[in-house]
Amino acid sequence: MESKKSIRRLVQERKDVLSKGERQNLDNIIFDKVINSYAYKNSHTIFIFVSYNNEVDTHKIIKQALRDKKILCVPKIISKEEGMDIVQIKSFEDLKEGAYGILEPDDSELKIEEKNIDVSYLPGLAFDRRGGRVGYGGGFYDRFLLKTRKNSKKIGLAYKFQVFPEVPMEEHDIFIDGIITD
Ligand SMILES: Nc1ncnc2c1ncn2[C@@H]1O[C@H](COP(=O)(O)OP(=O)(O)OP(=O)(O)O)[C@@H](O)[C@H]1O
Ligand SMILES: [Mg+2]
Repeated sequence: MESKKSIRRLVQERKDVLSKGERQNLDNIIFDKVINSYAYKNSHTIFIFVSYNNEVDTHKIIKQALRDKKILCVPKIISKEEGMDIVQIKSFEDLKEGAYGILEPDDSELKIEEKNIDVSYLPGLAFDRRGGRVGYGGGFYDRFLLKTRKNSKKIGLAYKFQVFPEVPMEEHDIFIDGIITD
């Protein structure tokens, strides 16, 4: 099995090869699958990451979820030690560029308890079919997932080339329930 470090490097290289047009096609396929899924349709409160750079686009999903009157929450990074707040947004314009250039809410006024989330859409660099997930190495999402309800759905969004036969999982890594890919 590859190390997390080598998997992260490999996936970043593969992502760089996709043209903007190719990526838009794949993003549209993923968008349709999310919006038409049972988990999405039957959820009241949704958590989703805000895509940045060459991640699977979530901006379109966020806008649709707001139109569908979901309670939509996104991460606001507090610090490496404290992790992230989960904050509701009511409009896409509530998102502003944060410390790392990533769009996030300005403040945590509409902070949502992790226990209230019905479905979480997660970023990641690599996934496997057991629910294994490798992120960017911050441990932010592993710590977040610990606080969600056991019966909430945890779903990764990824391109097909990010799915491996098996990715390394450590003690603190949380298995997810499924992946939506192109
Ligand atoms: N439950 C936890 N409690 C404390 N520290 C944790 C926990 N989970 C992860 N960490 C810290 O985060 C570090 C990075 O974890 P890991 O390599 O799994 O990140 P990742 O899964 O790629 O990141 P992310 O979860 O943000 O996508 C770990 O070495 C550990 O120090
Ligand atoms: Mg992890």
